[in-house]
Order: sequence, then structure tokens, then C-alpha cells
Amino acid sequence: MSEITLRVNGETHTVDVDPSTPLLYVLRNDLGLRGPRFGCGLSQCGTCTVLMNGNAVRSCSRPVARAQGTEITTLEGLSADGELDPVQQAWIDEQVPQCGYCQNGQILTARALLDDNPNPTDAEIREGMNRVLCRCMTYYRIQAAVKRAAVAMADGEVER
Ligand code: FES
Ligand code: FES
Repeated sequence: MSEITLRVNGETHTVDVDPSTPLLYVLRNDLGLRGPRFGCGLSQCGTCTVLMNGNAVRSCSRPVARAQGTEITTLEGLSADGELDPVQQAWIDEQVPQCGYCQNGQILTARALLDDNPNPTDAEIREGMNRVLCRCMTYYRIQAAVKRAAVAMADGEVER
């Protein structure tokens, strides 16, 4: 066991864990954050996604020791100030989720995509989102929601 210090959603946490423990387990089991979910555990489905320094990464295959010194944002942290993130609002407006299991990964991947490319084409949205799997096939609504969020952000309806 080792003391590991993490920055998560703007707060500092110290946990005493095996350094090889997947970040996902620490977020869920030690910090009580239920946004990131266990799907495959093999870096294949994307439901465990978190933002690390603004990049979408898979927390099921990332040893917690390799998360030290980074700024981690989970789904809970997107609306930490009480205001919904424009991606979250677009997800509500487009009624994207079905069972909801994959949606943590979809929303955080969309957030990273729009930070990198504020005005993506349909093809760029499909390319950017295609590694996050949805067994309920909500892909068309996801694409509509990403476009809606991009328009809202460009129109200045929300400040980031
Ligand atoms: S649970 Fe991490 S990619 Fe599937
Ligand atoms: S909404 Fe059910 S897996 Fe995506």
C-alpha cells in the first residue's frame, strides 16, 4: 500500500492503496463517486471515462499511481458549481439516455471533443465518439446533442 494524492473535481484527496489499483476503483470505492462505471474493465467500452487534464481517459485501465499530479474531472465535477454543463443540458434537451449505463462515458467524451473542436462536423462527431459503446443504440441522439451543445457554447448561452 502507498499514500496516493489525487486532485478530483477541484479537491485534493489522499488514499492508501496499492499503486497498481485501477483509478476507477479508487474513484468509486474510496471517493464514493458513482459517475464513472465499470463496464468491460478492458479499456474497450468507455463507460469508465474521466477527464484527465481535459482529455478523456479510461479509468478502468489506468493505475491510480499514474493519475497523481493530474486534474481529474468526473461526471459529478461537470456541474460542481450547481450549473449544468452545456453538454449535460443538451443531453437532457435531446433526451439522449435510454438505460443510461454508457452515458457517463458519452458525456465526458463529448466534453473533451468540444473542448478540442468547438464546431465539429457530423463526421468529426462520429469519429470522436465512436469508441464509446452504447448497447441501446442512442448514437443518433448523441450526435444531435453534441451539435446542440456546440451551438449553445458558440452562442454564448453558457460560459465555460
Ligand atoms: S470499463 Fe473501462 S473501457 Fe470499459
Ligand atoms: S443508453 Fe443504454 S448502453 Fe447506452
